[in-house]
Formats: sequence, C-alpha cells, structure tokens
Amino acid sequence: MKNGAREGFQFELATYLADQDFVYGPEPELYTPIAGFYSYGLLGKALKNKVEDKVRKVFVEHGFFEVEFPLISPEIIWKASGHLDGFNDSVISCSKCKSSFRADKLIEEETGKEIAGAKDEDLLAAIKRNEIKCPNCKGRLEWEITRHSLMMKTIIGRDIVVYNRPETATTTYLPFKRYVQFFRGKLPFTVFQIGKAFRNEISPRQHLLRMREFTQAEAQIFISKDQKQNFPPFKEVENDLLPLWSEQLQKSDKAPESVSLKNALKNNYLKNQAYAWALLLAYKVFLEMGIPKEKMRFRQHHSNERAFYADDAWDLEIELNSFGWTECCGVHDRTTYDLSQHAKFSKQKLVVRTEDGKEIVPDVIEIAFGVDRPFYALLDLAFFKRKDDDKRTVLSLPPSMAPVDVGVFPLIKKDGLPEKAKEVLQALKGSGIRTYYDDSGSIGKRYSRLDAGGIPFCVTIDHDTLKDNAVTIRERDSLKQTRVKIKDLRGTLEKFLEKGFSEK
Ligand code: GLY
Repeated sequence: MKNGAREGFQFELATYLADQDFVYGPEPELYTPIAGFYSYGLLGKALKNKVEDKVRKVFVEHGFFEVEFPLISPEIIWKASGHLDGFNDSVISCSKCKSSFRADKLIEEETGKEIAGAKDEDLLAAIKRNEIKCPNCKGRLEWEITRHSLMMKTIIGRDIVVYNRPETATTTYLPFKRYVQFFRGKLPFTVFQIGKAFRNEISPRQHLLRMREFTQAEAQIFISKDQKQNFPPFKEVENDLLPLWSEQLQKSDKAPESVSLKNALKNNYLKNQAYAWALLLAYKVFLEMGIPKEKMRFRQHHSNERAFYADDAWDLEIELNSFGWTECCGVHDRTTYDLSQHAKFSKQKLVVRTEDGKEIVPDVIEIAFGVDRPFYALLDLAFFKRKDDDKRTVLSLPPSMAPVDVGVFPLIKKDGLPEKAKEVLQALKGSGIRTYYDDSGSIGKRYSRLDAGGIPFCVTIDHDTLKDNAVTIRERDSLKQTRVKIKDLRGTLEKFLEKGFSEK
C-alpha cells in the first residue's frame, strides 16, 4: 500500500461514516451502486458545509470575490482549456475479466511507491517487474496502455454534445472581461468558485478521495509578472513558516523543511512572492479547520508530473491514518496559459491595460481545494477508540467543525425533565448554536451516540435542575463535566465552542 495506507482502517472508517450518517454510498445504495458517487448524509452535509464555510471565510477575508458558473459547457471551452486533448489517464486492462485500471494508481497500490508522471513504457515495466496481476480476478494484465479521457460527456437538447466541467477553474476564467470592469482594470484581482466538478475516473476505488462527481473550492489570483515578484501582502507574512518538500529535497531523499517564506524564495524553493503567499493562504485554511501542523506538508510536483497548464505546482498533503500522505489542495502557477488559450479560441482580447498603457495578459495563480478531501481528512484524523472496556468510538472533531454543537438530554423522560429541557432549547434559540434533542434510551447510550457523531458538548437536565435552574455540560473528549445556570448557558457554550472546554 502507498506511503502508510492501511486497508483495514479504510474499511472500518467507511463503514463507520455510513453508520453515523456522514457518507452513504456508493450510490444509489437502493439499486445497483456505481463506483465514485457518494451522498453526504444527515451529519455529513452539515460538516461539509462547515468545510466550505471555512474556505469561503478565509478567501473573503483576504479580498476574494465569489462567483458561480454553470457546470455544463460546450466542447469549444474544453478544446481551448486543453482538457479535451490533455486530460487523460493511462489505463491497463485485465486479459481475463476485462476490468480496467488506472496504471499509475494500480502500481502505487501494489508497490507502495509513487509513480505519478511516469511514461507509459515505465508503467509497463513496473507492472512486469512487480508481477502485478488484476486486483479483481488475479488474471494477467494486457501488455498495452491506452489513454482514457477524464472528460464526462453529456447531451443537451436532442443531440448537442456538451461536457460536465472537470474543474471549476476554467469556468472561473471565462467571465474575465467582466472582472476587469468590476475591478476597474487594476491587477491583482482575486476570484473564487465553490462547486461540483466531474471526472470520468476509470476505476475509482478510494472512497471520497477519488470520485466521479466531487466538490472543488478554487481561487484564482489574476496578477502581472511584476506583481508576482513584488507582492505587497508578502511583507507581512515573510517570516511565517511552511513545511516545504521541494523536488530537490525529494530527489535527495531528504525530509520536508520548515522554511520561512523569505528563505523559501532565497533558496529558490519558490519562484515568486505571490506564489509563496498563496501557499500560506492554503495552509491557513487547513489550520482554521483544525488540521494539526504536524500532519501537513507541501510537496512540489516533479516536472514530469505537473498538469499541462502548470509552470509550478505544490500540493498540500495531509497524513491520513487510512491512506497515508494525501493531496488535499494544489497550488498552481498557470501563468498566462488559460487566458491566452481562451483569447485564441474565442477570438477576443483578454487583457488589462497597465498604468503605462501597455496591454498585458495577466498570469493566474490558482489555489485549488477539493472539498471532499479535507472533509474526509477531518474524519480520518478525528476517529479514535476510547481506552475503556467497550472501546467505544469517538469522533474528536474540533468543536468549531462539529456538525451539531450540543446534545440536549433530560436525564429521564418523566418528572418534568423533558419540559425543563425544552426551556433549555428555548434559551439557546437564535444563538446559532445547533442543538440535538434526545430523550430515548439510557443516558449512557445517548452519550455514546453523541461521541460517535462528533458532537462536542452535551447538556443534561436532571432533578436538581428543577431546584437550582442549573444544567451539566459534559465534554466529549475529556469527559469532564461542569455545572452552569441556564441563564449563563448560551455564553458558556459560545466560549467552549470557540476555545474548547476548560474546567474552572
Ligand atoms: N483546477 C485544478 C484541479 O482541478 O486540480
């Protein structure tokens, strides 16, 4: 398995996520499922929204404007972008059962070694050298690599061939002339889009990590070449540290280094200030989500691995318990590639005028998040078993990312406790704190359910509450409890949700 991937854990986590209403699928579960399509369930959708909200928050705080473009567009757009000709995978088939597999992924899964960007002959040689057989039937693999387009074709009207977008980025570039007007023709300007994208993966086999329909959150910095080198926001953050694993370090078998942005430019790990700033912004988004620093690194793509539009590319990788180091965001220097291509195919000028009157095609630096991957990473890292006799499962999500904030439980379903609990719900109404009320079954079982769903706090209403108007707050991870008056509950919970629980 690839760099620390653990099959047992993958399976356990997938089963758990379905049972706990995070992710259902592959869908349609009710009929015959198709690989690569999943639903976000009752808790999952709430968590996914929070992931998107964090990305949105950081981008908006840094001056980005959001757009939304249709998911489907005509062939010419994907001819212009290069996806129709260049966005494909190397595929190998089984001579016996005829199943097809992405050759590089198959080799990585079987050997545990990265082989991204290898030529077809090297892929065939690796398959032979490692005696790789069909993972489905153990049959012999065909001695041939074929190209498989990732573009997902569909029909509109009676017979017009169109395509589901394989990335949001291209569709963010298309209203470029509108942006120039809005931003008064002044570079740099910054735009992002959150939405679905589609890839016709040949054999998606890694749960939410490789889907045929998925969600992206991609930001684009339109900028001149001079501004890339001399980017004013860089100064404020030049001493911030990033864990960088350059192509050079990888090739010499060295570990990632913690480097300040300033030194990363000096060492030639990074080529320009704006790109360094973009990497930091991506890092900040994950820190906001509560991903620990020690679980993250930036890996530079090798020159033979980069997407056809990228001049430089670094992936923010997170170390997962299930799949090892996994790309969760890519930062690409797309230079003038996209705007030049769309100018050529649309026969329109896509330029801005500089202060000295010159028309230039801006460069684009892209920060491309998959939303599903950070979602999965949060769950993967949060999943643990208590060290008690039952080894009960706890989802230790950061409180600010939890799908529901607080469980509200009357100790028993009589003696006026449910009525008092409804008063508590009323006291929290309008606060933005999301509650889940439950009065069925034993209190222990109800606590376990909250722990398993990642809900960080529980408020219990007992017989004393009827006398002193106070309730107990229980914290999921530490199991610590504290008692507060109902009138102080809202403020206390708001503080705990922001800063975590601390017993006074
Ligand atoms: N827009 C970059 C990507 O889809 O990976």
